[in-house]
Amino acid sequence: MTENVSTAIAIPRGLAGVVVADTHLSEVRGDDGVFHYRGHDAVQLAGAAEFEDVWHLLVAGHLPAPDERAAFIGQIAAARADAVVRAVVDAVLGADADPLAVLGATWPLLAARRGLGALYDLPAHERREAAVELAAIVPTVMAFVQGAEPTLEDGTVTGHLRAVAGHAPDGWEHRALTAYLILAMDHGFNASTFTARVIASTGAGMAACLSGALGALAGPLHGGAPARSLDALDRFGDIAEIEPWIRGELSAGRRLMGFGHAVYRTADPRAQLLKQLARERGGARVDIAVAYEQTAERVLAELKPGRNLHANVELYAAVVMELCGIPRQMMTPTFAVARAVGWSAHVLEQADDPKIIRPASRYVGTPLR
Ligand code: ACO
Repeated sequence: MTENVSTAIAIPRGLAGVVVADTHLSEVRGDDGVFHYRGHDAVQLAGAAEFEDVWHLLVAGHLPAPDERAAFIGQIAAARADAVVRAVVDAVLGADADPLAVLGATWPLLAARRGLGALYDLPAHERREAAVELAAIVPTVMAFVQGAEPTLEDGTVTGHLRAVAGHAPDGWEHRALTAYLILAMDHGFNASTFTARVIASTGAGMAACLSGALGALAGPLHGGAPARSLDALDRFGDIAEIEPWIRGELSAGRRLMGFGHAVYRTADPRAQLLKQLARERGGARVDIAVAYEQTAERVLAELKPGRNLHANVELYAAVVMELCGIPRQMMTPTFAVARAVGWSAHVLEQADDPKIIRPASRYVGTPLR
């Protein structure tokens, strides 16, 4: 068997549309703007459920009954209360205060301290414990990075906002941040989830899967976009300044951060809910964001016809996070608070299938001499 496939076989760039695994976790239907978790409409969950309930849905397979909920919240709180987390973060913080770098280093170091072995060697119940416990510590790590004391009695949303924004959420902030974090939990086979599953398929540890996925998330074309889309909004003192700037960016061959999506060819349903929440809060910044979205969609339709480029989740996620008082360097880490849940659920799913993900490359270099 040769690794190289015939040059006659067309490989879609970026593997777009290539199905590489089956999943029960989430389905994204890009042509009609539908997105659900295990059959539950994600946008409806985002408006009605609590973060921990959807977390349970993803890793345990169903929304929790009251007794399951209490036990699950107890498991999360115990993972966050472990003094080893602080010890590891303190050790890492001395070297680098970048929140994503600290998190990416903390997971494997913590796993080593806790003796969490390779997925290959763990029975299913221990894999699931590792999944919950390692995803649970993301807000704790972010609190330590911010020099804040994590509040264990709060749920994930309130505790995270207290730590990174320095205040308890009001009603709108709690609703808006809960909605964002639920919508950000999982989203089909995005680049970071794929990364997590590739690592999981080797039988490596849960921590390695999460840290690898985090590296992919950090990229500006994926989870690194929110702060950059706010950088664009910062340029506009007046709505009249928006269109010339957009045209300048596009004619220079640059991308507008917070627009376009690999799967959606309609409006991103996550963006629509977050926009609605931002408009509820209102203000000059929201007005600029809406004008930016409308202008960008019109100019993109003109200059990139047929591409169906719309605002993605990142634009209004950034606006909502800013309205909640979350600083820019904590925006991608806030995304990670949620997406770590999705990665861990995917890793559990992948670990049930003992088949390594090992595609092929096509050699297009100098022929064998
Ligand atoms: N601004 C300008 N042009 C764009 C944008 C954009 N945001 N997105 C795509 N295009 C253009 C490309 O330049 C390309 O044009 P061409 O055909 O003339 O060369 C065409 O649309 C198709 O581009 P692809 O890269 O093939 O599109 P793909 O669907 O693979 O990319 C992606 C998806 C990476 C999200 C892209 O839209 C992008 O770079 N967006 C900006 C970054 C961003 O907002 N990322 C967050 C995504 S959401 C998330 O990850 C949670």
